[in-house]
Amino acid sequence: MPIIYKENTKEFHLFNSEISYVMEILENGQLGGLYFGKKISEDCSLKYLRVDVARSHAAFCLPTPSVLSLQHTRQEYPSYGTGDFRYGAFSIKQENGSSISDFKYVSHKIYAGKKKIEPLPATYVESDNEASSLEITLSDSVTKTDLILTYTIYENYPAITRHARFEHKGDEKITLEKAMSLCLDLPDADYEMLHLSGAWGRERHIKERRLEQGVQAIHSMRGISSAEHNPFIALKREETTENQGEVYGFSFVYSGNFLAQVEVCSNDTSRVLMGIHPDNFEWTLQKGEIFQTPEVVMVYSDNGLNKMSQTYHKLYSERLARGTWRGKERPVLINNWEATYMDFNEEKILEIAKTAKEAGIELFVLDDGWFGTRDDDTQGLGDWFVNTKKLPSGISGLSRKIEKIGMKFGLWIEPEMANKNSDLYRKHPDWIISAPDRFESPSRFQHMLDFSRKEVVDYIHEMIAKVIRESKISYIKWDMNRYMTECYSRAARPDEQGKVMHKYILGVYDLYTRLINEFPDILFESCASGGARFDPGMLYFAPQAWCSDNTDAYERVKIQYGTSLAYPISSIGAHVSAVPNHQVGRITPLSTRGNVAYFGAFGYELDLNSLSKEELEEVKEQVAYYKKYRRLFQYGTFYRIKNPFKCGDGAWMVVSEDKTQAIAAYYLGLNTANKGTLRYKLEGLDPDMRYKVTVSGESEFYRGDQLMNAGLAINRNKYFKHMGDFVSLIFNIEKA
Ligand code: DGJ
Repeated sequence: MPIIYKENTKEFHLFNSEISYVMEILENGQLGGLYFGKKISEDCSLKYLRVDVARSHAAFCLPTPSVLSLQHTRQEYPSYGTGDFRYGAFSIKQENGSSISDFKYVSHKIYAGKKKIEPLPATYVESDNEASSLEITLSDSVTKTDLILTYTIYENYPAITRHARFEHKGDEKITLEKAMSLCLDLPDADYEMLHLSGAWGRERHIKERRLEQGVQAIHSMRGISSAEHNPFIALKREETTENQGEVYGFSFVYSGNFLAQVEVCSNDTSRVLMGIHPDNFEWTLQKGEIFQTPEVVMVYSDNGLNKMSQTYHKLYSERLARGTWRGKERPVLINNWEATYMDFNEEKILEIAKTAKEAGIELFVLDDGWFGTRDDDTQGLGDWFVNTKKLPSGISGLSRKIEKIGMKFGLWIEPEMANKNSDLYRKHPDWIISAPDRFESPSRFQHMLDFSRKEVVDYIHEMIAKVIRESKISYIKWDMNRYMTECYSRAARPDEQGKVMHKYILGVYDLYTRLINEFPDILFESCASGGARFDPGMLYFAPQAWCSDNTDAYERVKIQYGTSLAYPISSIGAHVSAVPNHQVGRITPLSTRGNVAYFGAFGYELDLNSLSKEELEEVKEQVAYYKKYRRLFQYGTFYRIKNPFKCGDGAWMVVSEDKTQAIAAYYLGLNTANKGTLRYKLEGLDPDMRYKVTVSGESEFYRGDQLMNAGLAINRNKYFKHMGDFVSLIFNIEKA
């Protein structure tokens, strides 16, 4: 069993062939942390890593002469207030107003496998030999509350998952004011923090900053994980690159408010905290009630960022995504949003679909505007019945006509919202999230439905399920287009208002669960004004997500490059759109638009009927090319090669598992005169294999070690089809 407990030293050691994670029971009964990193022999004790010395201003947690100071001790799930002046992992308020806690070790369980933490999304196992778990029970004797910390180590991934559960057994109610999922104390502070931050249309740009004494944090208090920050951070050494050096990844399997923070203390240790944001969170527990935090997935790599990302890619596409579409090749789709916006009718839709079919596209997706009085974004949300003025034969009829053309049909929904100008709102004005006697801030003219209430979820479920039942629907794009304001539920008691934001997300998960259970073959794609809810929680329900509303190929290189830090390529919705681009007005070659979108769940988002004959031919070739290599693009091992955030140009590649096939791409940003030879080192190939490399129709032969160590030398004048900005190259690499 790859988890052992050593009674003599009171140490827990979790390990697999790549990593070790070591904890200890401290002399005061609390749980201390000792090590997380590259595998260390399980026979060794790591107790020597804790050095207790009396330091100035230390407060001791045991009577003197002990010098055990919690401020100076690495801990697993600390609280604030008893001598540790750093931010704690949780806070419990008693009825008497005290927030002091003291959770001491009681017992532990080690078992094969991993338990579900439903209704929360989480990574899972399919057989017990894939992972081992450790549950440590600690108890606070004053509040009579148990705290169960659960750790799972996967056999084949350098990954450990964690979450915490509070079980309240006392007569007096307690209030959880904070309940993070993870605390990890690292012994030094020589790290750079990487995070994925941005805004609408600029999601998941990679930001880096050196850790400094104090707190550095990213968060969302927007009700969903947000475009501004993604629930992911990494701590890397200064010298760590894509392919070498140490890095820790922390990824939060949750779609609502979050906080990810690193606190560097005066003695140069780093405390990582990750979990539900404690602001606007308050969870009362009566006797017998429990609260379970969502899961954090920690990954360790000593082979750079690519290895960390590859671990997340594999784990998330194999053991987080579920259902029919896990591991399955995703269809090439065409979405009508940028082609028509809400101005369409059945005829126009069928015309686009017919041309798409001729081009080899497999799925037609009808976006926003098909329901209620939805002719613009001021109205109709909440009224999930078809607008027969636009679509006389309904979704039922249209979906059948699309299937007759030979394509599958997909539908856009935004179930969590209502416009005030809707029948739903007029009937149930108290169903929106809004505070009594306060202004209800509109955003895109819409308001959030109170998904913390079961009756609201029930109602929306019935309406949506009815449309699906009556029609031939193979795909759903589930959109969500605003952030939460005036958080208050008209149905909750005053002391339960602090639960609303979390219960809202549980309501979203509940609706997903019901729809997935009833329609297991539908492919779900999540979306939130582009990529504002691109998080592991969503991936559990929807195996792909619309990456960004920004479809400009040049900007997309950055967005997809950043997204790939934590998310598998198969999950990244990526479409070829029209030029000038609708978001930034840029004109990029059609070839580059394809070359970027190939590295994702590929599709089109433009009116194919407005293209020239030559362009349409190129689209056909792109679709055929993507289909030929679809498995490699979606599930190959992905390597980032050139960082567009650093040099303007970008490069990446995918390699098949047996290393006999690979596709690499290079994207030029702005061109300059008299540019030097393009040098391009590849990754992940077999050093001893002989490869044929084809670029722009010309082939050359190389050995793997040549391609990886010396790299390619590309004559730009020869290989680039056109001169100019934003051109790109695709290298097809095959075992010779
Ligand atoms: C935002 C999405 O990101 C777009 O793709 C589109 O579906 C619109 N919403 C529709 O309102």
